[in-house]
Amino acid sequence: MSLDLAPDRARTPLTPNALRKIVRTLAEEPDQWIHKVRLATDDRWYERLESSEDHEVWLISWLPGQSTGFHDHGGSRGAFTVALGELEELSLPSPDQGLLIRRLPAGSDRAFGPDYVHDVRNTTSGPAVTLHAYSPPLSEMSHYDLRAGGLVRTSVEGPEQW
Ligand SMILES: [Fe+2]
Repeated sequence: MSLDLAPDRARTPLTPNALRKIVRTLAEEPDQWIHKVRLATDDRWYERLESSEDHEVWLISWLPGQSTGFHDHGGSRGAFTVALGELEELSLPSPDQGLLIRRLPAGSDRAFGPDYVHDVRNTTSGPAVTLHAYSPPLSEMSHYDLRAGGLVRTSVEGPEQW
Protein backbone atom coordinates (compact mmCIF):
# COMPACT_ATOMS: atom_id res chain seq x y z
CA MET A 1 0.00 0.00 0.00
CA SER A 2 1.34 3.45 -0.84
CA LEU A 3 0.40 6.76 0.66
CA ASP A 4 0.23 9.86 -1.52
CA LEU A 5 1.18 12.77 0.72
CA ALA A 6 1.27 15.36 -2.03
CA PRO A 7 -2.24 16.78 -1.46
CA ASP A 8 -1.49 17.39 2.23
CA ARG A 9 1.84 18.95 1.41
CA ALA A 10 0.17 21.31 -1.05
CA ARG A 11 -2.09 22.58 1.73
CA THR A 12 0.75 23.34 4.14
CA PRO A 13 0.72 27.12 4.63
CA LEU A 14 3.82 29.16 3.91
CA THR A 15 5.59 30.44 7.02
CA PRO A 16 5.40 34.10 8.04
CA ASN A 17 9.07 34.48 7.10
CA ALA A 18 8.49 33.00 3.64
CA LEU A 19 5.64 35.50 3.17
CA ARG A 20 7.89 38.31 4.37
CA LYS A 21 10.44 37.34 1.73
CA ILE A 22 7.74 37.43 -0.98
CA VAL A 23 6.64 40.98 -0.13
CA ARG A 24 10.18 42.27 0.35
CA THR A 25 11.26 40.87 -3.00
CA LEU A 26 8.23 42.37 -4.72
CA ALA A 27 8.82 45.76 -3.08
CA GLU A 28 12.24 45.80 -4.71
CA GLU A 29 10.61 45.35 -8.13
CA PRO A 30 8.29 48.38 -8.40
CA ASP A 31 7.94 47.93 -12.16
CA GLN A 32 5.80 44.88 -11.30
CA TRP A 33 3.13 46.92 -9.49
CA ILE A 34 3.71 50.71 -9.36
CA HIS A 35 1.63 51.37 -12.50
CA LYS A 36 -1.37 49.63 -10.89
CA VAL A 37 -1.52 51.83 -7.78
CA ARG A 38 -4.67 53.91 -7.43
CA LEU A 39 -5.77 56.19 -4.60
CA ALA A 40 -9.35 56.26 -3.35
CA THR A 41 -10.91 58.77 -0.98
CA ASP A 42 -13.80 56.58 0.25
CA ASP A 43 -11.65 53.73 1.60
CA ARG A 44 -8.31 52.05 1.11
CA TRP A 45 -7.81 50.98 -2.50
CA TYR A 46 -6.64 47.38 -3.06
CA GLU A 47 -5.99 44.89 -5.83
CA ARG A 48 -4.96 41.23 -5.72
CA LEU A 49 -1.69 40.83 -7.64
CA GLU A 50 -1.23 37.06 -7.33
CA SER A 51 -3.38 34.14 -6.29
CA SER A 52 -2.35 30.50 -6.01
CA GLU A 53 -3.44 27.51 -4.00
CA ASP A 54 -1.09 28.27 -1.13
CA HIS A 55 -0.88 32.06 -1.00
CA GLU A 56 -2.04 35.38 -2.41
CA VAL A 57 -0.50 38.84 -2.75
CA TRP A 58 -2.31 42.16 -2.43
CA LEU A 59 -1.36 45.74 -3.27
CA ILE A 60 -3.00 48.38 -1.05
CA SER A 61 -2.90 52.18 -0.99
CA TRP A 62 -3.66 54.37 2.00
CA LEU A 63 -4.57 58.04 2.00
CA PRO A 64 -4.04 60.09 5.18
CA GLY A 65 -6.52 58.95 7.85
CA GLN A 66 -7.39 55.62 6.22
CA SER A 67 -7.18 52.60 8.51
CA THR A 68 -8.25 48.98 8.80
CA GLY A 69 -9.55 48.94 12.36
CA PHE A 70 -8.63 45.93 14.47
CA HIS A 71 -8.95 42.72 12.44
CA ASP A 72 -7.64 39.18 12.18
CA HIS A 73 -6.86 37.20 9.02
CA GLY A 74 -9.19 34.24 9.48
CA GLY A 75 -6.36 31.86 10.41
CA SER A 76 -4.06 32.81 7.53
CA ARG A 77 -0.42 33.65 8.14
CA GLY A 78 0.60 37.01 6.73
CA ALA A 79 3.28 39.57 6.03
CA PHE A 80 3.34 43.07 4.65
CA THR A 81 5.87 45.72 3.80
CA VAL A 82 5.56 49.46 3.41
CA ALA A 83 6.78 50.23 -0.11
CA LEU A 84 6.02 53.96 -0.09
CA GLY A 85 5.07 56.37 2.68
CA GLU A 86 4.69 55.44 6.33
CA LEU A 87 2.05 53.64 8.41
CA GLU A 88 1.40 52.90 12.05
CA GLU A 89 0.43 49.49 13.46
CA LEU A 90 -1.45 48.97 16.73
CA SER A 91 -1.53 45.58 18.43
CA LEU A 92 -2.17 44.04 21.85
CA PRO A 93 0.71 41.64 22.54
CA SER A 94 -1.05 40.12 25.58
CA PRO A 95 -4.07 40.93 27.74
CA ASP A 96 -1.96 42.32 30.58
CA GLN A 97 0.15 44.54 28.34
CA GLY A 98 -0.98 47.83 26.93
CA LEU A 99 -1.47 48.81 23.34
CA LEU A 100 1.72 48.50 21.30
CA ILE A 101 2.21 51.16 18.62
CA ARG A 102 4.80 50.61 15.90
CA ARG A 103 5.80 53.17 13.33
CA LEU A 104 6.36 51.50 9.97
CA PRO A 105 8.43 53.70 7.65
CA ALA A 106 9.06 52.77 4.02
CA GLY A 107 11.16 49.62 3.86
CA SER A 108 9.86 48.14 7.10
CA ASP A 109 7.81 44.97 7.25
CA ARG A 110 5.77 42.81 9.62
CA ALA A 111 5.12 39.07 9.54
CA PHE A 112 2.64 37.23 11.72
CA GLY A 113 1.03 33.90 12.56
CA PRO A 114 -2.56 32.73 12.24
CA ASP A 115 -3.94 34.34 15.41
CA TYR A 116 -2.59 37.85 14.89
CA VAL A 117 -4.87 40.87 15.37
CA HIS A 118 -3.83 44.42 14.47
CA ASP A 119 -5.01 47.83 13.33
CA VAL A 120 -3.00 49.48 10.56
CA ARG A 121 -3.42 53.17 9.80
CA ASN A 122 -1.97 56.05 7.89
CA THR A 123 -1.44 58.83 10.43
CA THR A 124 0.81 60.87 8.12
CA SER A 125 -0.11 63.71 5.76
CA GLY A 126 0.82 61.77 2.59
CA PRO A 127 -0.24 58.56 0.83
CA ALA A 128 1.29 55.14 1.51
CA VAL A 129 1.52 51.94 -0.53
CA THR A 130 1.90 48.43 0.92
CA LEU A 131 2.36 44.88 -0.37
CA HIS A 132 0.74 41.98 1.55
CA ALA A 133 0.98 38.20 1.31
CA TYR A 134 -1.31 35.66 3.03
CA SER A 135 -1.14 31.88 3.29
CA PRO A 136 -3.43 30.15 2.90
CA PRO A 137 -5.31 32.77 0.84
CA LEU A 138 -7.67 34.85 2.99
CA SER A 139 -10.98 33.09 3.54
CA GLU A 140 -12.50 35.46 6.07
CA MET A 141 -11.59 38.34 8.35
CA SER A 142 -13.12 39.35 11.68
CA HIS A 143 -13.26 42.92 12.88
CA TYR A 144 -12.92 43.95 16.52
CA ASP A 145 -13.60 46.95 18.72
CA LEU A 146 -11.06 47.86 21.37
CA ARG A 147 -12.98 48.25 24.62
CA ALA A 148 -11.99 48.58 28.26
CA GLY A 149 -11.89 44.78 28.70
CA GLY A 150 -9.96 44.14 25.48
CA LEU A 151 -10.86 43.30 21.91
CA VAL A 152 -14.48 42.39 21.14
CA ARG A 153 -15.38 40.77 17.81
CA THR A 154 -17.98 42.87 16.01
CA SER A 155 -18.27 41.40 12.49
CA VAL A 156 -16.96 38.78 10.09
CA GLU A 157 -16.49 39.35 6.37
CA GLY A 158 -15.76 36.91 3.57
CA PRO A 159 -14.18 37.14 0.10
CA GLU A 160 -17.44 38.35 -1.44
CA GLN A 161 -16.85 41.63 0.44
CA TRP A 162 -13.42 42.27 -1.01
FE1 LIG B 1 -4.03 42.81 8.56
